[in-house]
Amino acid sequence: MAKQIWKPGTLVAPIPPMLVSCGTMDAPNIITAAWCGNVNSVPAKAYISVRPERYSYNLIKESGEFVLNLPTEKLLKAADWCGVRSGRDYRKFDEMGLTAEPCSKVSAPQIGECPITLECKVCQIIPLGSHDMFLADVVAVNVDDSLLDAGGALHMERADLVAYAHGQYFALGKSLGHFGFSVKKKSTAKKEAAKKEAARKAAKKSAPKKARP
Ligand SMILES: Cc1cc2nc3c(=O)[nH]c(=O)nc-3n(C[C@H](O)[C@H](O)[C@H](O)COP(=O)(O)O)c2cc1C
Repeated sequence: MAKQIWKPGTLVAPIPPMLVSCGTMDAPNIITAAWCGNVNSVPAKAYISVRPERYSYNLIKESGEFVLNLPTEKLLKAADWCGVRSGRDYRKFDEMGLTAEPCSKVSAPQIGECPITLECKVCQIIPLGSHDMFLADVVAVNVDDSLLDAGGALHMERADLVAYAHGQYFALGKSLGHFGFSVKKKSTAKKEAAKKEAARKAAKKSAPKKARP
């Protein structure tokens, strides 16, 4: 590959154009934040980075709470719109026809139309330059029944999630394999082959002998 060397930039991609709800049930707001992610597994911690000039900045700073609403294809228009309009000028839930629903652990609302939401409590604010990072404990996760199978397993592929990369939105949706498939593949293939061989042998054994004419 003939790579050019560019100046430092924000090209970690893809990332979710996250719908972040904040404020209260009476005065809710939504800010789109692509600078977001997981940062720790146990306890579950996530972050969003927000410019101090955003209307949402003080809502989050003062309440110490926000909700991450995973963006889906159906919610993409809202994700874009909430990222170019301010809660100073618009009631974003109303404008986008979204429902502010109460959460179980935080007083910030979640987006009713979003099938996966994470309730977060801020534990640290880290000024980084253009943005302040709100590091938060994930205190509850809400998952819609439609994404769960009979055994309670979560099927993310049903959620029609979307991604953001270098100013563009992309559809996800096609599963390319499970975590660890690269190492499991060989043993699974071997197991499959062994199973087939055993089944072939068993079938041969139990097959009735052809009567000779
Ligand atoms: C795809 C996308 C990603 C964005 N990511 C961020 C972000 O990570 N942090 C941020 O401060 N603003 C981000 N913005 C801009 C804010 O969402 C935007 O300024 C919004 O109008 C702020 O709303 P508010 O004033 O109601 O808080 C993003 C916008 C878009 C469209």
